[in-house]
Amino acid sequence: MAEDLHITQGDKKAQYESLIPQIKALIEGESNQVANLANISAALKEQFGWWWVGFYMIIEDELVLGPFQGPVACTRIKKSRGVCGAAWAAEKTLIVEDVEKFPGHIACSSASKSEIVVPVFQNGHITGVLDVDSEHLAHFDTTDQHYLEKIVSLLATT
Ligand code: SME
Repeated sequence: MAEDLHITQGDKKAQYESLIPQIKALIEGESNQVANLANISAALKEQFGWWWVGFYMIIEDELVLGPFQGPVACTRIKKSRGVCGAAWAAEKTLIVEDVEKFPGHIACSSASKSEIVVPVFQNGHITGVLDVDSEHLAHFDTTDQHYLEKIVSLLATT
């Protein structure tokens, strides 16, 4: 796999459709989790230019900051705390149009206005979350949910 990402213009769906096979190629054959999470974060950041994108992984009873792209972030989040901890507890994707209206939202950055958090399942168990933050309100919708769930599902058996 060449290390250059082909960046696509066009609507969001077209961008994801072009990106997914490239992410597949980047991670297939690589068994190291950190390497794969790092490349997924970088590919998403490069294609979409989001404010913050990255992973928190469940270690013992907390989410611990993993590979990401963007400004420095909080390192540990308890179950049910913030959007990430709530998505972990519910084991489902959460879309937050205005983070200030989400009870218990953890403001790692005051620039972040909306957020989507997608659980990562590996070998049938939740192992972490993919967190994406935008500096725009209501930036994420069910199209993002659909494709981001598809992207994290590529990690299911790694
Ligand atoms: N805002 C998140 C915390 C993680 S940072 O945004 C990177 C939350 O409420 O879970």
